[in-house]
Amino acid sequence: MSPKKKTPSAKLVKGMKDIVPAEQLIWDFVREKVKSAARDYGFTRIDTPIVEFTQLFKKSTGEDTDVVSKEMYSFVDQGGDRLSLRPETTPSVVRAYIEHGMLNQPQPVKMFYIGPQFRHDKPQAGRYRQFWQFGFEAIGDVDPIIDAQMIVMNYDILQDLGLDTEVQINSIGDKSCRPKYLKALTQYYKDKKKDLCADCTKRLVKNPLRLLDCKVKGCQELAAVAPQMIDYLCEECNKHFTAVLEYLDEAEVKYNLNPKIVRGLDYYTRTAWEIVEANEEGKLQALGGGGRYDELVGLLGGRGDTPAVGFAMGMERIINKMKEKQVELPAPRRSDVYIAQLGAEARRKGLKLLMELRRGGLTVSEDLSKNGLKGQLELADKKCARYALILGQKEIVDETILIRDMESGVQETVDYKKVVKEVHKRLASQLTEKCLKIKKMKKS
Ligand code: HAM
Repeated sequence: MSPKKKTPSAKLVKGMKDIVPAEQLIWDFVREKVKSAARDYGFTRIDTPIVEFTQLFKKSTGEDTDVVSKEMYSFVDQGGDRLSLRPETTPSVVRAYIEHGMLNQPQPVKMFYIGPQFRHDKPQAGRYRQFWQFGFEAIGDVDPIIDAQMIVMNYDILQDLGLDTEVQINSIGDKSCRPKYLKALTQYYKDKKKDLCADCTKRLVKNPLRLLDCKVKGCQELAAVAPQMIDYLCEECNKHFTAVLEYLDEAEVKYNLNPKIVRGLDYYTRTAWEIVEANEEGKLQALGGGGRYDELVGLLGGRGDTPAVGFAMGMERIINKMKEKQVELPAPRRSDVYIAQLGAEARRKGLKLLMELRRGGLTVSEDLSKNGLKGQLELADKKCARYALILGQKEIVDETILIRDMESGVQETVDYKKVVKEVHKRLASQLTEKCLKIKKMKKS
């Protein structure tokens, strides 16, 4: 780091993003949909630390991948350990699976996560240095129905979020058939080296598969007519992939066979998929992707033949897409009651009342620092409160409180001690009225 670099004290770090209160409605909406899909498909949440040993990502994500070689936030801590902020969560989930002996649980172990990831990439539309992912991993089952279930769930969640997407899918084989394909691919590029970009020249030696998803035009033209993995799949991989596609047909999930889906991380085997959409700048960007990784558990020291499959989605990209498509969100929950107080004594009581109402199971809003009834009732209206509870000098003396129906304007004095019960009674009778109205409408 340059010693001259000044650190501004009140400025957001480049590539990072605040999720301000006004945005929480859409973020909560996405998080809730993810959690509800997880419940329905039988996945349990796992939270792993943001910091892991750098070696974990070197070994699993891959030392020569862009993510590990160029983009990781790595440091040596006070104890001398080489650590990194996670650039993805799949390696951490596999580490946890091994360390917690999850092999002894019924397989597959199905887990999901929601959390921030860190990649020191070049920031642009939809690309951040801290970004959020939700991801699902199913460890311990090789059956193609699990691949299909993951893809169906991935598709289903996006549909739930108002996004009608298409899955781009490929099979990248396994250790028995991929070497033959890589040989053919390298052979194809042998006399085309001079037409490759600088990165692809290196990829040709280190990771030839990645030549297929280079974004440089000249390289894309060469990739378009390069040999395809699908023609080199061994019988087992071919059978597996055919079965995945048949299950997807049965589930009526829209997919496209795309031989260029090879994924940028080292651990994938067999099924690989991505969901790609144009960003605000019109550039194609993946909303998410995943695949099978049958060798990773063994590679990290777990039982060698433990298969796995999973995917992760970029939450900022999904949310940007939802905004672009103007996906309608549910209205924020209205509060049951608003506390309006007049005078110092009432304000003092207001704080305790707030606690009592909350403990009584009511959602409460207030502006305890404000004076004047008119202003407070306007605020109650703005916050869509169902009832206002008005506490003035007279009510303090009488040990009562005024309940004002914010829709009809009707006010009623009730015993202060019974206020929680009284509000619940009114809310319940309102629900019954609503129900009767709906029944009447259905009959007529
Ligand atoms: P990935 O393709 O590296 O896969 O990332 C998944 C998604 O994270 C991307 O498609 C994208 O939406 C989002 N993403 C990645 N980098 C950025 C960024 N800099 N800014 C904003 N969003 C970004 C994985 O991470 C694998 N762990 C997926 C997986 C799970 N495979 C098996 N299980």
